[in-house]
Amino acid sequence: MLDSGQGAAAQDWWRTAAIYEVYVRSFADGNGDGIGDLAGVRARLPYLAELGIDAIWFTPWYPSPMADAGYDVADYRAIEPLFGSLAEAEKLIAEAHALNIRIIIDVVPNHGSDQQPWFTSALAAAAGSAERARYHFRPGRGDRGELPPNDWTSMFGGPAWTRVRPAAEHGAAEHGAAEHGAAEHGAEPGPARAPGEWYLHLFTPGQPDFNWAHPDVRAEFASVLRFWFDRGVDGFRIDSAALLAKDPGLADLGATPTPGSSAPVEAAVAGLPAPALDGPASQPAAPHPFIDRDEVHGIYQEWRRIADSYPADRVLIGEVWLPDAQRLARYLRPGELHSVFNFDFLCCAWDAAALRGVIGTTLDAHDRVGAAPTWVLSNHDVVRHVTRYGRADTAFSMTDRQIGEPSDLALGTRRARAAALLTFSLPGGVYLYQGDELGLPEVEDLPEELLQDPMWERSGRTNRGRDGCRVPLPWSGDAAPFGYGPEGSVPWLPQPAEWKNLTAQAQQEDPGSMLQLYRTALRLRRALPALAAGTGMAWLPSPPDVLCYQRGAGPEAVTVMVNLGGRPVPLRPHQEVLLSSGPRPGGLLPPDTAAWLRPPAPGR
Ligand code: NOJ
Ligand code: CA
Repeated sequence: MLDSGQGAAAQDWWRTAAIYEVYVRSFADGNGDGIGDLAGVRARLPYLAELGIDAIWFTPWYPSPMADAGYDVADYRAIEPLFGSLAEAEKLIAEAHALNIRIIIDVVPNHGSDQQPWFTSALAAAAGSAERARYHFRPGRGDRGELPPNDWTSMFGGPAWTRVRPAAEHGAAEHGAAEHGAAEHGAEPGPARAPGEWYLHLFTPGQPDFNWAHPDVRAEFASVLRFWFDRGVDGFRIDSAALLAKDPGLADLGATPTPGSSAPVEAAVAGLPAPALDGPASQPAAPHPFIDRDEVHGIYQEWRRIADSYPADRVLIGEVWLPDAQRLARYLRPGELHSVFNFDFLCCAWDAAALRGVIGTTLDAHDRVGAAPTWVLSNHDVVRHVTRYGRADTAFSMTDRQIGEPSDLALGTRRARAAALLTFSLPGGVYLYQGDELGLPEVEDLPEELLQDPMWERSGRTNRGRDGCRVPLPWSGDAAPFGYGPEGSVPWLPQPAEWKNLTAQAQQEDPGSMLQLYRTALRLRRALPALAAGTGMAWLPSPPDVLCYQRGAGPEAVTVMVNLGGRPVPLRPHQEVLLSSGPRPGGLLPPDTAAWLRPPAPGR
């Protein structure tokens, strides 16, 4: 285990950590098959150390049929052969630790894969069997059970239920099953098979939801956590963390609102901007049948006890899309998760009032439970922020990704630079998504026949999905594969030719590049006590479209200014500009620019 992080005490290192998300299949391809792998990551660990991060979060690296890019896990205790082997993962963990980089891995507890042995045996077993009880199997509605058991829909569109077709009905096109065939796989026709039950999947049919009321499920995941903690991982990012507990009767959703929101359920889970940020803490009138149910907290209390039973701080990070800061904070109460992603911040428009509101609400809600806030601009599910910030509508919504909307990428890049200095100077932890540091834009013109995200098909080809933010990274050279894989290899998604200007190598040599800004900002964030502290922030008076705050006090204080307005503004009095995201002609802070200042010495 690590002795200490470079910027944070070993104790509570996660409170201020800079955590870098590695989307394994798109990071670096060591063997030239076009798919990123652990060998690729191992070769690039020195790059990540030089960037100045404290930890890597790996998206799922487990064996998977890839119905949802690895978020359909077939074996929680092994490594996907395309990515490498368990022995290689263990080497990677050790090599990262030697560089003072911690390792966080995804765990996917809401659902498994339809190819997982538990599920294939459930399909082969009878209705009412012990095997099926680990999932949500139900008879259908209607005279012949031909209708889904309830009205829930999948987060990716389409029904949340797939029918297991009985032998006698083979050839009949049942809802869902015909389209995917998940229920067909591994289902031996025979007398043991119950005719026509349906199973629940809040995502694709290849991702059957586990029944978290079943003791086997709880015991299995407790054992999975221990398996990886025993191998030295420093924490887990918990996928779909608010969805695990289901209404025992699987009641219809009907008009039940999302907790804290009047938005439709799908949209809110997917991350629509939060409503009324300053409203009272809301207690849902009736519990939602599958989002943020109170029972879910018992699971994380158990997981926290497991994490705490290991030496050195092991962390639990929740992926909780919940447009209600007070309900979100419940996951962070003492004895539960260490942190959650701040999706309100990610979804927020490039607008001073809106950002001030999100920052304030975040700080208040976390303060109440003694938790560390986090700040995140992008991840593998959302449109890259360079592209978002160059559009007329700069907010993010999963249900309307605005693909093809014009984006001024020069403007988006300028704002992304300012946003980096905003993000890295707020108290708490930060998340970077691979390629943020290169200023990569979304790739919006991938040919339709290459799209792999299940969102594309399940939305009836209306939502192009998330492939545009998952294009393999450009490392070096003038043409694809840009050092992502060996010369002549073909990346699993094509890289734009213009990325020759955005390679890590090209940016390494350019002092004004995004990469150099990230390196400098991350280094200063560790080196300046006011920023490294993780707490203490006070708003300073400023024009309405300028964010201005102070971190720390006394001679070590840092003042942060972010100009989101249309006109240059004077810098506050200062003795030194520590860092700025762009030039400051005439000593003014131009639009879409941020600066870190050392305020005048007291008494001057
Ligand atoms: C959230 C993950 O980030 C996303 O990529 C995935 O599709 C869903 N959870 C389902 O696992
Ligand atoms: Ca590979």
